[in-house]
Amino acid sequence: MRLAGKIAVVVGAGQSPGEGIGNGRATVLRIAQEGAKILAVDRDLASAEETAALAAKSGGECIPFEADVTREATVAAAMAKAVERWGRIDILHNNVGVSIAGGDKPLDELTEAAFDRVSAINLRGTIMASNMCCRSCGSSVRERSSTFRR
Ligand SMILES: NC(=O)c1ccc[n+]([C@@H]2O[C@H](COP(=O)([O-])OP(=O)(O)OC[C@H]3O[C@@H](n4cnc5c(N)ncnc54)[C@H](O)[C@@H]3O)[C@@H](O)[C@H]2O)c1
Repeated sequence: MRLAGKIAVVVGAGQSPGEGIGNGRATVLRIAQEGAKILAVDRDLASAEETAALAAKSGGECIPFEADVTREATVAAAMAKAVERWGRIDILHNNVGVSIAGGDKPLDELTEAAFDRVSAINLRGTIMASNMCCRSCGSSVRERSSTFRR
């Protein structure tokens, strides 16, 4: 149990429809097996609930939470929920990513609106989720971040 007692937030912990298993859901199931307690965050709550139910089958503690990485207040609420329940966050996995689903196209067909949408989800969403995680965890994370910058 390499992650026993660790607190993880997985953003994009649901699963797009289709065969197989996505990275987000697979990550939750694997780290649950290793003993992590997990907040499974997704804009699709039903999908996050499904992930949490699967994690529970292997004895993991996993709470589903609805948030959209393009809506910072919802991401802040997710991080606050993890800290309120477990007191801290040890692991943040930013899994959300879109391409075709966000309107991505070959360069000569790409529209400004699609580019902005994909950037807002993939780039700004990742940065802001990390930002909200640091804010929620308080000074200990900021101190560790400044150590890494030196
Ligand atoms: N699965 C693979 O083998 C693989 C390989 C390489 C790269 N990737 C990339 O990794 C990323 C994630 O892969 P996956 O397999 O977990 O995909 P997935 O589509 O199964 O899961 C992504 C989850 O993110 C959620 N999501 C989408 N937009 C969101 C938003 N704005 N806010 C919150 N949640 C949102 C979706 O509801 C979905 O549950 C994608 O960009 C994918 O292209 C996947």
